[in-house]
Amino acid sequence: MIINQWYVAADSTEVTAAAPAKVRLCGLDFTLFRDAAGRAHCISDVCVHRGASLGEGRMEKGCVECPYHGWQFDGAGNVVRIPSLPAETPIPKRARVDSYPVIERYGWIWVFLGDLPEAERPPLPDFPEYADTANWRTIRGDWHWRANYARIVENGLDFSHAPFVHPSFGDRDRAEIHDFEIEQDAWSARAKVTYIPPLPRGIWKLMRKERTPVQAQPSFHLSGATMRLDVWLTSSWHMVIFDVNTPVDETRTHTRWIMARNFFRHPLFDGDSRRRTLKIFAQDTQIVEKICPEIVPTDLREELSVKSDGLMNAFRQRRRELIERGWAIDVDMLRHHIDGKRALVIPSPARRESQGRNFVLKTVPLLPPRAEIALQSAAQ
Ligand code: FES
Ligand code: CO
Repeated sequence: MIINQWYVAADSTEVTAAAPAKVRLCGLDFTLFRDAAGRAHCISDVCVHRGASLGEGRMEKGCVECPYHGWQFDGAGNVVRIPSLPAETPIPKRARVDSYPVIERYGWIWVFLGDLPEAERPPLPDFPEYADTANWRTIRGDWHWRANYARIVENGLDFSHAPFVHPSFGDRDRAEIHDFEIEQDAWSARAKVTYIPPLPRGIWKLMRKERTPVQAQPSFHLSGATMRLDVWLTSSWHMVIFDVNTPVDETRTHTRWIMARNFFRHPLFDGDSRRRTLKIFAQDTQIVEKICPEIVPTDLREELSVKSDGLMNAFRQRRRELIERGWAIDVDMLRHHIDGKRALVIPSPARRESQGRNFVLKTVPLLPPRAEIALQSAAQ
């Protein structure tokens, strides 16, 4: 799990001004809520007074009230009221928790888990079809996996599994992948391939009567650990599966998906689209939940890649760069620390601005950046 990234923490509809919502992201707990103006906020869940869970509290005048002694926290994470202190007593400077940047987009709450200043934060992935309701029909849903989120994104970028795992998509007797180009930019990459699918069944027969090639373009964006799959079933019938993969912890992932289609736009066809989308997830789950090891090995030579794995490898490469910057959570250390011993948090931008002064809790252990690894091995 990597910090200084955007992750989707909730559906917009789950976050209200009526009660705080508690979510687990990257193995830690966070509290989401809306202030009186309707703006969504995300703060660390652990109260700095005696460690109660703020997400179990209640809302009071646009602030979260801790369920234990009633301290009130605003959207910036600052305590604005300590009920046990006489009104004229100043609030201690360290009475605050980390608060994380939030963007609402595509019906989701995106949270930036890290301390980078705004100008250095990555963009969110584009999804122009989402707002283009005149031409696209969208449906949405969730999927929960007992698997590591990077394995799940890789599965979505994996061209060569379709004929074996999704028999309605690919034909096992025509499984070879021809040359493809990987297009990359700073945060994402994509590649287009052609499949020869088996003959369609059900209502989809209307669309394709022959084994005409289908174009597919999987892509990833590091923000949200987003996987987007474009499929052109004919020259004009285009569908998109756009999913964000949030690490609940190292081995549990909450995927939120939106499926957009520019054909069969009548809501009558939603049920069929949903069934097909969920079937794909169910087929992938059978495989992905049983991959060994559960997390992608740090030493990539411990798995053998071939040419058709190119897009997955581009994703691995990008993640590796982030890990080498020193942004990967050291999960073994984290587990050791938080097993009832200590509350830890992901550093927020305000913490960086104040150089960690005025914050009570310590931050999560991170794997050393590449420069330090080089120094350590030179010293050995
Ligand atoms: Fe939160 Fe005391 S533990 S107010
Ligand atoms: Co699949």
